[in-house]
Amino acid sequence: IRTQVAIVGAGPAGLLLSHLLDRQGISSVVIDKRSREEIEKTIRAGILEQGSVDVLVNTGVSDRVLRDGHKHDGIELRFQGEGHRIGFPSLVGRSVYLYPQHEVLIDLIASRLAAGADIRFSVSDSAIHGQHSNNPSVTFTDSEGEQWEVQADFIAGTDGSQGIAKWTIPEAERRDFFRPYPFAWFGILAEAPPSSEELIYSAGDNGFALISQRSDTVQRMYFQCDPTTDTAEWSDAQIWDELQSRVAGTELKEGNIFQKDVLQFRSYVCETMQYGRMFLAGDAAHTVPPTGAKGMNLAIADVLVLTDALTAYFDNGTTEKLDTYSETALKRIWRGQQFSYWMTSMLHATPEEHPFDRQRRYGELETVTSSVAGQTYLAEAYTGWPFDVGY
Ligand code: DHB
Repeated sequence: IRTQVAIVGAGPAGLLLSHLLDRQGISSVVIDKRSREEIEKTIRAGILEQGSVDVLVNTGVSDRVLRDGHKHDGIELRFQGEGHRIGFPSLVGRSVYLYPQHEVLIDLIASRLAAGADIRFSVSDSAIHGQHSNNPSVTFTDSEGEQWEVQADFIAGTDGSQGIAKWTIPEAERRDFFRPYPFAWFGILAEAPPSSEELIYSAGDNGFALISQRSDTVQRMYFQCDPTTDTAEWSDAQIWDELQSRVAGTELKEGNIFQKDVLQFRSYVCETMQYGRMFLAGDAAHTVPPTGAKGMNLAIADVLVLTDALTAYFDNGTTEKLDTYSETALKRIWRGQQFSYWMTSMLHATPEEHPFDRQRRYGELETVTSSVAGQTYLAEAYTGWPFDVGY
């Protein structure tokens, strides 16, 4: 197969890239080792920045986000028994949308397939070749056992945090920034009505909890736990007790818990995001801890910058924007890293937290919530900074 951009990974980054390139008349082939069903069913992030929603709507991927998504004009930060609402529109003129990542993927796949895109699901043995030549390629075996080679002008590595693309950059040309955290989130999906209209980020003395939603009938909630926690050891009653104890003051509406998972926390950045004619985007190049909901949004921002650079190349042969892609994308990525780290460390107690640090964190939360400047800092980052390029 011959195409202009071979895209490894059909997550939000890879599929959106394929879509935006198509709008510029640039062809692509997308491969993924997962099945379409697995991609469309895996529960991931929930929050889209206003700008991310605008990309999906204005480029024709989805207007379902406006109908089935829920616009959220604020969040609550809760600590020392009191809730403090941060309202976004009056501070920054933007909001966020609760619209789960798998719904974004359902929309993207439907829109790509309707446009006749070549997406190969359930592939195996994928490999990337010739990143430093003028004709890089991707090889893979399809679900029927047939072997393929995709020859391209460029490769996009959008295969997520567990992907292969970044490991093809030799260690000597790559800098990995990695930071683990001594806690994780116990996440549940429950059949219940919402307990709160907006998200509650609660920093209690016995640990953090986040009350989120998925729909009018399904709720998503998390509580801070040890990274080695086994969800099977927790009964529904224990889970509700734990969640309830961490959001005292709000009565949680309980219901059947039909999914339990543990989310590991880590911060990671791969510098550089370019290796010859291969470009990384999204989680393939960077991971944030979930607090602050930046992951999918950073992936979308990368893809805008990469599309702009590839378009400049195919329109007039210039490589300037491709050469600065990594540098441009990393500026926003490090801001996202800072925000995610900050929200995480402000809201979570480490297992051996010093009493001074606990009180200091409450002082920090007081600082943020008690002034317009503090609230605005959080609101700007949470709702998303302006993009570096148009689309
Ligand atoms: C969700 C996850 C987050 O990490 C967050 O900050 C907000 C919401 C969610 O899954 O709903």
